[in-house]
Amino acid sequence: MFRNFKLVPNVIFGRSCFDQLDEIIEKQRKDKDSWAVFVTDDVFKGKALEKRIPLHDNDILLWVNVDDEPKTQYVDELTLKVKAARSTLPCAVIGIGGGSSMDLAKSISLMLTNEGSSTLYQGWDLIKNPAVCHMAVPTLSGTGAEVSRTAVLTGPEKKLGLNSDYTVFDQVVLDPELIKDVPKDQHFYTGMDCYIHCIESLEGTYLNEFSKSYGEKALALCRQVFLDDHPDKDDKLMMASFFGGMSIAYSQVGACHALSYGLSYVLGTHHGIGCCIVFDYLSEFYPEGVSEFRTMMNKQGIDLPRNLVKNLDEDQIEKMITVALGLDPLWENCLGPDWKNIMTKDKAKSLFLEM
Ligand SMILES: NC(=O)c1ccc[n+]([C@@H]2O[C@H](COP(=O)([O-])OP(=O)(O)OC[C@H]3O[C@@H](n4cnc5c(N)ncnc54)[C@H](O)[C@@H]3O)[C@@H](O)[C@H]2O)c1
Ligand SMILES: [Fe+2]
Repeated sequence: MFRNFKLVPNVIFGRSCFDQLDEIIEKQRKDKDSWAVFVTDDVFKGKALEKRIPLHDNDILLWVNVDDEPKTQYVDELTLKVKAARSTLPCAVIGIGGGSSMDLAKSISLMLTNEGSSTLYQGWDLIKNPAVCHMAVPTLSGTGAEVSRTAVLTGPEKKLGLNSDYTVFDQVVLDPELIKDVPKDQHFYTGMDCYIHCIESLEGTYLNEFSKSYGEKALALCRQVFLDDHPDKDDKLMMASFFGGMSIAYSQVGACHALSYGLSYVLGTHHGIGCCIVFDYLSEFYPEGVSEFRTMMNKQGIDLPRNLVKNLDEDQIEKMITVALGLDPLWENCLGPDWKNIMTKDKAKSLFLEM
């Protein structure tokens, strides 16, 4: 079966294109009572960007906090807040921030039109009704959340996305100026999420020309950003994230993402840094990728946290292994159909104990 892959229909790209957001939202405002919700990372409270958000009288600026990555309970609370604010549905939900804020915006737009808790929809194609029109304004590049068909959520029972065609954004606003002030470490971790997407896709058994075309371009852009310090590196990373997301959408991620889900499930490690911590120990699977990653890390002056796992108790390590090995397609992409004989529980444990 081939995937019939839903694309983002509208994309605007360019420095300062954020200034066109008002005009873009205007098309969704059908009458004088129409209102929009700006789901905005609270890191921008009091910053210059706050004043540039094109708020109309009826609109709501919903600050969100992403110190923890998005949880189902938080999505449910935010959705209730939006529902309580007005008696009608908003004409648009606009997510402004990194992968976490974009996923919150996706989730709220879906939960406004689908009954019950977001926990009911964690999985594949469980969403019944189309979302409210939703738009993304990334302020941090690498996750590819701006193009993906999922909104990753941690629930009481599982960490699993709202994965559906309805999840895909209706509009993406790519303004490279918005990522220029990201702190150095965060910029690297989220950027490496993109680099690792490319390596896992290009080195994977699921590779096809669609994924390869996007993955190769994204990888070349990552090199210009993290090895060459190119003067247009913000523009380049923004496009790398987009293309890296397109690459994995039609293939799959691999060993690094599988193990990093285990790590983050137990330790709450954030996605970007979690991927970096794991990738450093995967030279057996991605020798050239890991070697280049280390060069990038040195060049950017990044020190990764170490010794996170060996002092955990057996139950926690066991949970980490169960979560990581439960991701069959990721392992199959990395190691082929015989993966269970290669990535045994003992093997996974020995890798975790190094981290
Ligand atoms: N939906 C998907 O396809 C997908 C794919 C990969 C990851 N994700 C999710 O994305 C999240 C990770 O996203 P992320 O790495 O972009 O980080 P993030 O959104 O979690 O943000 C990380 C930190 O950077 C700050 N930040 C964001 N923009 C900034 C800016 N311009 N200046 C200063 N600080 C800024 C945030 O406030 C936060 O403290 C995870 O929740 C992960 O599960 C989703
Ligand atoms: Fe990722």
